[in-house]
Amino acid sequence: MRSVVALEHVLQIFTRPAASASAAEPPAAAPAPAAPAPPDWGRLEAATAALDPPFAVVDLPALRANAADLVRRAAGKPIRVASKSVRSRPVLRGVLATDGFAGILAYTLPEAIWLAEEFTDVVVGYPTADRAALRTLADHPLAASRVTLMIDSVEQLDLVDAAVDAAHAHVNVNAAGGQARPPLRVCLDLDASLRLAAGRVHLGVRRSPVHTADQAGDLAKAIVSRPGFTLVGLMAYEAQVAGMGDAPVLAPAEPAAAGGSGSAAGSGSAAHPVPGARPVRRAAASARAEVVRQMQARSMAELAVRRAAAVAAVREVAPDLEFVNGGGTGSVHLTTAEPAVTEIAAGSGLYGPTLFDRYQAFAPAPAALFALPVVRRPAPGIVTVAGGGWIASGPPGQDRVPQPVHPAGLRMIGTEGAGEVQTPLRGAAADGLRLGDRVWFRHAKAGELCEHVNVLHLVDADGSVRAVPTYRGDGHVF
Ligand SMILES: Cc1ncc(COP(=O)(O)O)c(C=O)c1O
Repeated sequence: MRSVVALEHVLQIFTRPAASASAAEPPAAAPAPAAPAPPDWGRLEAATAALDPPFAVVDLPALRANAADLVRRAAGKPIRVASKSVRSRPVLRGVLATDGFAGILAYTLPEAIWLAEEFTDVVVGYPTADRAALRTLADHPLAASRVTLMIDSVEQLDLVDAAVDAAHAHVNVNAAGGQARPPLRVCLDLDASLRLAAGRVHLGVRRSPVHTADQAGDLAKAIVSRPGFTLVGLMAYEAQVAGMGDAPVLAPAEPAAAGGSGSAAGSGSAAHPVPGARPVRRAAASARAEVVRQMQARSMAELAVRRAAAVAAVREVAPDLEFVNGGGTGSVHLTTAEPAVTEIAAGSGLYGPTLFDRYQAFAPAPAALFALPVVRRPAPGIVTVAGGGWIASGPPGQDRVPQPVHPAGLRMIGTEGAGEVQTPLRGAAADGLRLGDRVWFRHAKAGELCEHVNVLHLVDADGSVRAVPTYRGDGHVF
């Protein structure tokens, strides 16, 4: 059994490549990379031969290439790492040691306080109602100087004040012998959705109610006039661009299409194929992609104007604003073009999960993979692996299901899908597999893979392996 290595070693692993661009010198004309090479299965199999699945690996050459490509697309602006899409402290450390990355966008306050033991700039990307964590923050001046809270309403400031011990209620007020609370750093969250038809159509996610520059200015005034808070940043995340693929995607082949041991499972439409269905589906996918592209172009044009106006309104009352954050993996190259934006958030592009196969402008390499063991053979042409139901969050659908990728040609069975404790897989490759062999999968999303394993095995180009803990392996489920 391999041990979890010292964190410094991981730092060395990440800093070895000289792939990334300097944040100070934008690599303006850098060409887009070719489609990523598929994983080197021989190297991954050899490196992990002694491990019993289930286990997860991060292919370091792929991770480095993905990091370098994010930096290239950011064209000189620093990337704040979205920790929800990494969920391993040593991996975060390695990424942050790479030129072009600076700061963390965390997802909970307890996580941010934990990370702030080590990292100096941690923005919580979402509001918190964790009263105990707020009290911990207010009680620790070092953490309070490193962690930034996300705010989109005065109500949230009230919640923070109510949560913090009365003895710390006002900065620099030491009444009744109470200890003064350090000022808490806050970032104003601006809604980046596209609203059409006088607000009746909302394209984007439901997050901040602050949509206009005037609303942003008003909330900024409320924050700066309130004791105990310092307004240090503005964030606007355009999910409808960054998180929505614009490439035509066909749904995976219907499971029963190959026939065979035809259980009641997965019959449905594929058992009665409609002549010409494929071209129709292809045309529908292209049409959908075109609609997405047009919506995204319109959204970015609208947002560039509104975000700049909001930043100007906020800077009027908070001239020392430290950062304006925008974007995500899917929009890095677009968001960075806005002069008002000072930094880009991204995380998923590091691991390259399947949902990020659906973009036209970039193609991350599959850097995070997991292996499950074959445990039985229900019938010719079918093997069953243990576990498998590592389903991603979001609107339920086929695109949230992990994909078997090696050996090629295996697919899930329609009525069972990715199971809680076992997953049958059908396909030509099944008969070549023996009990105990592995089937390799990709997760649909990036960080959620780490909720299923305590350890990530980092496999380097030379086949060496180091094990590092996930958040879960460090004893944390945030
Ligand atoms: C606030 C915020 N910024 C950025 C991102 C982009 O993260 P990623 O690059 O992992 O898709 C997200 C993803 O949900 C987000 O919520």
